[in-house]
Amino acid sequence: MSHPVQVIAVTGGKGGVGKSNVSVNLSLALAALNRRVVLMDADLGLANIDILLGIRADKTIADVLSGECDLRDILIRGPGGIRIVPAASGVQHMASLNAQQHGAMIQAFSDLGNQLDVLVIDTAAGISDTVVSFVRAAQEVLVVVCDEPSSITDAYALIKLLNKEYGLVRFRVVANMVGNPKEGHHLFLKLSGVCERFLDVTMQYVGAVPFDENVRKAVQKQKPVIEMFPQTKASQAYRQLANKVNDWPVSSSPRGHLEFFVENLLASSMASQANATSHL
Ligand SMILES: Nc1ncnc2c1ncn2[C@@H]1O[C@H](COP(=O)(O)OP(=O)(O)OP(=O)(O)O)[C@@H](O)[C@H]1O
Ligand SMILES: [Mg+2]
Repeated sequence: MSHPVQVIAVTGGKGGVGKSNVSVNLSLALAALNRRVVLMDADLGLANIDILLGIRADKTIADVLSGECDLRDILIRGPGGIRIVPAASGVQHMASLNAQQHGAMIQAFSDLGNQLDVLVIDTAAGISDTVVSFVRAAQEVLVVVCDEPSSITDAYALIKLLNKEYGLVRFRVVANMVGNPKEGHHLFLKLSGVCERFLDVTMQYVGAVPFDENVRKAVQKQKPVIEMFPQTKASQAYRQLANKVNDWPVSSSPRGHLEFFVENLLASSMASQANATSHL
């Protein structure tokens, strides 16, 4: 069994709220704290991480599943020493793996588990089966919200689904694009108020990232803002988030291992496939 790995799914329901920027910059800030970080692009639609970082992936998880290569062959070296698992477009096929492929996936992640401390998963917008599968399998769910009614309602819809259908109870929240720290906290209270009132959940505030023009500039240049403008307000905030994440306890139980994550991911992909079939 590999050593414990912290698996953090970055999600939010709504598109464009800053999930990918949080994922990338948090990953870099954690790497700067000497954590070995792998960033997984779980957005199967429009490529995200590769665009944000200006990298090109030749192979994806789909190639691992088809037996063409190992997980380690598809890892890309990113900035700041992080490694990236490119758009996991094979995940749709995870539901139909045979026993041998299933075993191969678990073995692949198990091998990888010894070489990393944190796995950050950037999820797509919405509440598709794929998003839900990744989030359910992770140990930590980081919900990114911004101060727009649709962001709050979409985040609520996602949390409600994860709680009512899948029994997830603990959610961490990052407020993005805020005017000041007070606004961030207020936004958190808005979301946690409605969640705790109607659902059986615990909401934990991680912090806020300010609205910062330099984020957009960095995105245009396909560079992480934390590298391009290390002293800008948003970069400072991403580092503060990383300091908090660094203090989160890592479970030493089986739940804290990468094998557990991939087992869960496979199980929930299969469950959602079975569910989809039963609705036909
Ligand atoms: N803190 C911020 N300050 C200013 N602009 C920001 C900030 N965070 C994100 N943005 C802007 O919002 C855009 C969308 O961010 P990002 O791609 O991270 O969102 P996303 O939630 O991953 O979107 P999608 O749902 O499409 O994957 C960025 O291109 C950037 O211009
Ligand atoms: Mg994104």
